[in-house]
Amino acid sequence: MKQDVRILLLGEPKVGKTSLIMSLVGEEFPEEVPSRAEEITIPADVTPEKVPTHIVDYSEKEQSDKVLKDEIIKVERRMSDFDMKFSSSQANVVCVVYDVTNEDTIDKIRTKWIPLVNGDAEKGNKIPIILVGNKSDLRCGSSMETILPIMNQFSEIETCVECSAKNLKNISELFYYAQKAVLHPTAPLYDPEDKQLKPLCVRALSRIFYISDQDNDRILSDTELNRFQKSCFGNPLAPQALEDVKTVVWKNTSDGVQDNGLTLNGFLFLNTLFIQRGRHETTWTILRKFGYHDNLELTDDYLYPELRVPVGSTTELNQQGHQFLQQLFDKYDEDKDSALSPSELRNLFCVCPYMPWGAEVYMTVATTDDGYITNHGYLCQWTLSAYLDIHRCLEHLGYLGYPILTEQQSQTSAITVTRDREVDLEKCQTQRSVFLCKVIGPRGTGKTAFLQAFVGRNVEKTVNPSSAFSPYAINTVQVSKQEKYLILKEVDVEAEFLKASDASCDVACLMYDTGDPHSFDYCASIYKQHYMESNIPCVLVASKVDLSEVKQLHGMTPAEFCYKHRLPPPLPFSSLFLDSSSKSIYTRLAWAAMYPHLNGSDMSNTSFWLRVALGSAVVAVLGFAIYRAAVRLK
Ligand code: GTP
Ligand code: MG
Repeated sequence: MKQDVRILLLGEPKVGKTSLIMSLVGEEFPEEVPSRAEEITIPADVTPEKVPTHIVDYSEKEQSDKVLKDEIIKVERRMSDFDMKFSSSQANVVCVVYDVTNEDTIDKIRTKWIPLVNGDAEKGNKIPIILVGNKSDLRCGSSMETILPIMNQFSEIETCVECSAKNLKNISELFYYAQKAVLHPTAPLYDPEDKQLKPLCVRALSRIFYISDQDNDRILSDTELNRFQKSCFGNPLAPQALEDVKTVVWKNTSDGVQDNGLTLNGFLFLNTLFIQRGRHETTWTILRKFGYHDNLELTDDYLYPELRVPVGSTTELNQQGHQFLQQLFDKYDEDKDSALSPSELRNLFCVCPYMPWGAEVYMTVATTDDGYITNHGYLCQWTLSAYLDIHRCLEHLGYLGYPILTEQQSQTSAITVTRDREVDLEKCQTQRSVFLCKVIGPRGTGKTAFLQAFVGRNVEKTVNPSSAFSPYAINTVQVSKQEKYLILKEVDVEAEFLKASDASCDVACLMYDTGDPHSFDYCASIYKQHYMESNIPCVLVASKVDLSEVKQLHGMTPAEFCYKHRLPPPLPFSSLFLDSSSKSIYTRLAWAAMYPHLNGSDMSNTSFWLRVALGSAVVAVLGFAIYRAAVRLK
């Protein structure tokens, strides 16, 4: 965020521009000065704000009007670059110098110099200006009375300062104010005409307030204020200072202090006060700590920290990410029912500029009977988001204040990037905890019912009417005594599956409808086309086994097909009978995803195949019984 500061000195001839520059550099008053000083660059480490600073002089004698205009345009152009977030941007300020003993040089500020600098600029895009009254050694009393009306007239005037090149009074201050005007501009924060914070600033400070209010009582307690102070400024407030702050707010507002803590209004008032007293760098420090850019948007550096995800790797929330999200859940689950009602969810995301989760979340994860997202469902949805779109996930964690609350460098510390899947395959083991299963089948096979059953819903009865369709469902399953996340994604073979990459996943679940004679043929062809030669494990699922089974119009029966291709036998599923055997299919899928190398060698269970061989027209209910027997035999 360190951009160069460019300070341009303008003003009537002989007001002392060149002398001011030379005094700063030489630390003594030069009796003789050239009409124009060379451009001076001050290295970052000797400036108060640690930013490289260029000081540019102007002389009417040496520079034509055109050259001057170019100099200002140079400043302007850099300003707009800056707005467009160009990384190499320079920010700028103009010091209009006048002679405190010469009224005419003051008049010209209004009539000539400010119109010249900002006459064509639109509101909000003006170059900040500092008024500099030089030769204060020649006058007792100040020029403030004459200057104040000008300051009131032009909101781009950041501040004014009286100084003397001769006795070196306020010289370094002048350049410090100039730097400050650039680095901590007032304009984005405060409207001097309305004497209040601008809407974007209120929005940013409100987000900061909600993040800092850790117990969600809409009041910043002493503990919360101290923590806030510490994360922004590095040290807690002294107890007395804390009391003073509250007293000031209490005296000046009707609702700024409640239950011995600061309300949002109190917090906003406090920042207004900082700015009105010229301490806007305090507000800027707070805003920057929470990730804001000069335009009061969060910076890309903050929202999108770099995270390299090599091909073959996936992204998962780690322990730290989970912990942060759980604390957030606990904070916003106000009625402590372990579920987020729509309004609780809205509050949780009130610090985001948009709602990160759409209405499809109600289909993707487990919900209560009232259709609220359960604690478990909430963590599942985050897991899904980290898996599917890590950059979005990092952005959302950024909005929620992850780096500030966890005191981490960035959101990436919430994420584990897993080892390449190829390496997992080679080593025959995986540390991953999230697996993707594509549920593939023709239209109407019952994929959605299968997905909804996974998150504990009966598709006909309990899908939330306000939810939007989601092709995903996510839940956890126990595999080898470990809890694993399994993502199911339904894929309609007739509409999708055009590219080979559509096939990629950790396990493919090919589903056919036992009541539709054409159904299996689709699965078989998808298998041959995409999975037969791949190392992706496949599991066949026979759906709607509560209905009577029809013969599949395919060269061989599904069971024969599986046997031939060394696939596990088709697993029977019915969304009407959600018993343990139906549920064990999900475990079986996760298991196949975790141990892809064991796929195909899973056929030790010959007794199963003997039974299947009894006949292809296995009645559905019998199918259940057989399956159960098979499970018990394992
Ligand atoms: P141009 O280059 O012609 O635009 O003038 P300038 O604004 O650069 O003014 P310059 O620095 O040349 O100073 C003009 C005269 O004012 C010189 O004689 C300086 O010595 C004198 N001067 C500058 N600053 C001060 C000051 O703070 N106090 C006093 N008493 N004289 C000053
Ligand atoms: Mg000069």
